[in-house]
Amino acid sequence: MVPHWKPGWKPIESRMGPSGQYAPQAMASMDEVSARVDELRSLIDRHDVAYFEQDAPTIADPDYDGLVRELAELESRHPELAVDTGAGHRVGARPSEAFAPVSHAVSMMSLDKAFDQDELTGWYDRVLRRLDGNEVGPLTCELKFDGLAVSVRYENGEMVRAATRGDGRTGEDVSANVETIADLPKRLGPDAPSLIEVRGEVYLKLSSFAALNEMVVAIGQAPYVNPRNAAAGSLRQKNAAVTATRNLSFFSYQMGEVDGVPQFGSHHESLQYLASLGLPVNEHAETVASMDGVSDYIERFRLMRHDLDYEFDGVVIKIDDLATQGRLGATSRAPRWAVAYKLPPEERTTKLLDIHVSIGPSGRATPFARLEPVFVGGVTVSTATLHNEDQVLAKDVRPGDTVVVRRAGDVIPEVVGPVLADRVKASKPWKFPTNCPICDQPLERVEDMAATACVNVSCPRQIRGRIEHFVSRGAMDIEGFGESRVDLFVTAGLLGDVSDIYSFDLEAVREMEGFGDLSVQNLRLAIAESRARPLGNLLFGLRIPHVGSTNGDLLATSFGSMEALLSADEEAIAAIDGVGPIIARSVFLWLSNPGNREIIGRLRDAGVNFTGPARSELAPILEGMSIVVTGALEGFSRDDAAAAVSDRGGKSPGSVSKKTTALVVGESPGASKLSKAEDFGIPILDEAEFSTLLKTGVVPAKTEEEGETP
Ligand code: IVH
Repeated sequence: MVPHWKPGWKPIESRMGPSGQYAPQAMASMDEVSARVDELRSLIDRHDVAYFEQDAPTIADPDYDGLVRELAELESRHPELAVDTGAGHRVGARPSEAFAPVSHAVSMMSLDKAFDQDELTGWYDRVLRRLDGNEVGPLTCELKFDGLAVSVRYENGEMVRAATRGDGRTGEDVSANVETIADLPKRLGPDAPSLIEVRGEVYLKLSSFAALNEMVVAIGQAPYVNPRNAAAGSLRQKNAAVTATRNLSFFSYQMGEVDGVPQFGSHHESLQYLASLGLPVNEHAETVASMDGVSDYIERFRLMRHDLDYEFDGVVIKIDDLATQGRLGATSRAPRWAVAYKLPPEERTTKLLDIHVSIGPSGRATPFARLEPVFVGGVTVSTATLHNEDQVLAKDVRPGDTVVVRRAGDVIPEVVGPVLADRVKASKPWKFPTNCPICDQPLERVEDMAATACVNVSCPRQIRGRIEHFVSRGAMDIEGFGESRVDLFVTAGLLGDVSDIYSFDLEAVREMEGFGDLSVQNLRLAIAESRARPLGNLLFGLRIPHVGSTNGDLLATSFGSMEALLSADEEAIAAIDGVGPIIARSVFLWLSNPGNREIIGRLRDAGVNFTGPARSELAPILEGMSIVVTGALEGFSRDDAAAAVSDRGGKSPGSVSKKTTALVVGESPGASKLSKAEDFGIPILDEAEFSTLLKTGVVPAKTEEEGETP
């Protein structure tokens, strides 16, 4: 199914709701209609100049499309107001005077657009009607590359001139610039025709775009907001030596004036011909039999949108048969035999209301923008990240600016940059706050995070962050400590650091709103169970920088106990296979910190498991025992559980027999193992009891209550 969306109206300049739905407002009088038509024409004129002449768009494409569409709709409803030139009717814009004019013998047209399946079907129905019962035949689907159209002229195989589209009739001479594009041969092979104009798109690969912006930022300039603008700005350089450094690329998709070129029956044959001359043709062009094939193509490439090294913002559908194309002809601005299906917008322009800084669980300060809501990337966005202090500086976005917002794929929405042309004179650069918005302590630059951070260990946000991490699944896995509860407990002063969990005032919790006997009892159990978690989980849970769950396990198995790790020096830690000097230093420093030692001491006093599964140090406390495990355990993989048993001298066979000592039951246990164990009266243990068994070597006794349960 093809997604549905309609271009919205830009909130600042029009009336779009946050849903981005195209919904023209009812207008009261002709005067108002006429005023709006004038307004739209002048807006479109202004945006055309900015986009085509200055390579500095003042509006995102879909918002522009919305204006053109609104104008077209008003003109078709009020033919007395319609004109067939000017805003909304022209192709591109006046060529700039910075380049010599080049007139196109075959004019360079624009494309009509379809924004959803209905509009696509509408286009196809109009084609059918015009053909009056004649067959449409196959269709060629191509990607709609997001760059700028250029016509490259070869005479007797030599590249002689290249021109931009300009207003469609007259373009700008960019020969020297186009000559620097490596994709384009300066000379075609011996089979070259006497004359061929190749039309196609100059674009910038995403990888080249990233490299260019890195360079631009390094020299203290504002980055380009997208590859299209960067391509346009790079091509239309007065100094072609600058263009040469930009690594531009080209895809050919059409021919202009030609002489001595074979007669083709179809568009796809002409593409093959271009490729045979050594010209770059995109590999994804496909000829399909019918509109079903078109929908299928659109759907496939919608999903691949972020898998290619260049941007495309739609699919161009062209009737393949050239005779049929000829029969359909063109309007003043676009052929009737082609249509551009536009994918939902991933970039929009909106107003930046304010910039705030949020403090993450590790103290990292992330600036983010509050925005006037805008429909982008399929959702309505009202906040977007600005990443970090360097990025805000480089982009110089300010409250009150019109900004480009981007949300591509699943990526979180970001502010790409300001539209400088719309900036109010009085605006001042935004300053990164000097103090943490939560604890008011000074923020500091943390170089190895490439970020600004709150380094106050007592900042409530960090306390919460450390506790949230400690109780999380891969760490001590304590249920009942969701984010909002941790927040509640920290705010109430019940938790100051992770060790407080084990002396937690549950009676105070019982008094809190929303808690009762049952929830308090559950918390008590969850806390008690967590004491037995493996040492690796504890080390991970302490949030020692650079210690993830893998390194936590590695340290636990290598040292066997917290005490051994505490008395190890930096070299001993670095000597472990898989632990580098950076990790070793980080672990050593963290463990040497007196505050951290204190927390560890309190965890020890609380009876938290400090011993690891180190093979050599384990006493054979399970000797002679046979422990069968069934179902999924949270803290152990099946292999880990078997290893934990065998490390202690026990056996862990795959099936239950009369000789089985105990059956450990996890999530979704095997029914036959469970019923056999019940038949033989073999103790059945849950994961917490299994942990106790591993520590004590004693099969925990069942309480009477449990014994009574059927
Ligand atoms: S064919 C007469 N094919 O879209 C039709 N155009 O909105 C000529 N574009 O000016 C255009 N990818 O800059 C065609 N595969 C493609 C295209 C494509 C991008 C651009 C081109 C054109 C604009 C029209």
